[in-house]
Amino acid sequence: MTKTKIANIPYGPYVTVLAGACVNEKPNYAAIGAYGVVSQKPVLYISLKNSHHTTAGVIENGFFSVNIPSSDEIDKTDYCGTVTGNKVDKSNIFQSFYDEAGKAPMIKECPVNYLCKVIQTIPIFDFTMFLGEIVAAYANESCLNNGRPDAAKVKPTILMDSGYFDINNRVGSIFKTCSGNK
Ligand SMILES: Cc1cc2nc3c(=O)[nH]c(=O)nc-3n(C[C@H](O)[C@H](O)[C@H](O)COP(=O)(O)O)c2cc1C
Repeated sequence: MTKTKIANIPYGPYVTVLAGACVNEKPNYAAIGAYGVVSQKPVLYISLKNSHHTTAGVIENGFFSVNIPSSDEIDKTDYCGTVTGNKVDKSNIFQSFYDEAGKAPMIKECPVNYLCKVIQTIPIFDFTMFLGEIVAAYANESCLNNGRPDAAKVKPTILMDSGYFDINNRVGSIFKTCSGNK
C-alpha cells in the first residue's frame, strides 16, 4: 500500500447534528460537525464559532441541546447550517420541546435529543468549545431497541468531502475479540 502525504487539515468523517439554544427566548438551531464525546461519562462537547447566533444563546442560558437528525431531514439540517439566526428566524423550521432540567430547545422531529448543561468552556481560535453534562435525553420510541437508540432506525448523517452520507449496513460488532480490550 502506497501512502501519500496530504495537507494537515481535518477531513472527517463527522456526524452532522443540530445544536440548539434559546436566543432572546426563541429557539435557534445550527448544523454542526464539531461535536462528540470525551469518554463514556454523560458529557458531550460542541464547538461553535463565536459569531454564531446559537453561541450567544448557549452563553446566555448555560444550556445547549444536541439533536441527531435522521438523514431524511437533511435539507432542513443543511438549511440550519447555511443561514444564521442573526438574520433569519429559524424558530419554526422544526417543532421545539423543552425539559424542566434546563433552558435549551430540543427538536421533536429528531430521533435523539440531548439536553446539556455547560460545565466547561474552552476558547479556541475564533470558536468556543462547550463541554456539557447531559441532564436529560430523549428518543423517539420507534427508534429504540431494548431501550437504546438503534442506528438503523435513527439514520444519522455522516459529513465528509462536502457530501452527506447515510449509514446503510452494520459491518461488525464491538469487542468481538474480547481478550485484551478491557
Ligand atoms: C454540515 C455543517 C456542519 C457545520 N459544522 C459547524 C461546526 O461544527 N461549528 C460551527 O460553529 N459551525 C458549523 N457549521 C456552520 C453553521 O451551522 C452555520 O454558520 C449556521 O448558519 C450558524 O447558525 P447560527 O448563526 O444561527 O447559529 C456547519 C454547517 C454545516 C452545513
